[in-house]
Amino acid sequence: MKRIGVLVSGRGSNLQAIIDAIKRGYIKDAEIAIVVSDVKDAYALTRAREARIKAVHVDPGSYRTKDSYEEEILRLLQKEGVDLVLLAGYMRIVGKRLLDAYHNKILNIHPALLPSFPGLHAQEQAFNYGVKVTGCTVHFVDEGIDTGPIILQRSVPVLEDDTPETLADRILKEEHKIYPEAVKLFIEDRLTIDGRRVRIR
Ligand code: GRF
Repeated sequence: MKRIGVLVSGRGSNLQAIIDAIKRGYIKDAEIAIVVSDVKDAYALTRAREARIKAVHVDPGSYRTKDSYEEEILRLLQKEGVDLVLLAGYMRIVGKRLLDAYHNKILNIHPALLPSFPGLHAQEQAFNYGVKVTGCTVHFVDEGIDTGPIILQRSVPVLEDDTPETLADRILKEEHKIYPEAVKLFIEDRLTIDGRRVRIR
């Protein structure tokens, strides 16, 4: 049984998609051991507690350095025997401490087709740029911002009457599909990283 730790900051709809995928048996032999939020009142913590998952708030403001903040997160993850870390709307850049401890074992979901539109407000960036197609990406996390090797992507059309909000909603529906798919592939040991390419067996 693999153990998953999820880092969140907000509403946690992607966390919910993973919880549901495990519950319905789509992802097998895995459980979410802990959810950690850097935001005290993140709705994701409520979702975790409702699913009887350990949910912890770690306040970055209580630590003098990023390293000591991540040291505490690492302690929590390791205490729970976490094998895989998922970023699910976690609004911080992962630092060296966590990256070293979980090398190639941290995944992120991003609401654009990387390498286009990394960083914040990706859906709005794509909308304002005027692209006709955007989408979402699940990737391994490295030291850059949304730069790690890509596992899965799904495209989403931009429609004539879209607003940034309707577009973001349509992308989110696809996020909720590809994140569980990518987690399933990882848990089943079907991913290998070959340079920038992720091979799927
Ligand atoms: C999602 O759009 C995700 O792609 C991005 O942050 C958002 C998180 O939403 N990284 P939620 O908290 O999972 O609902």
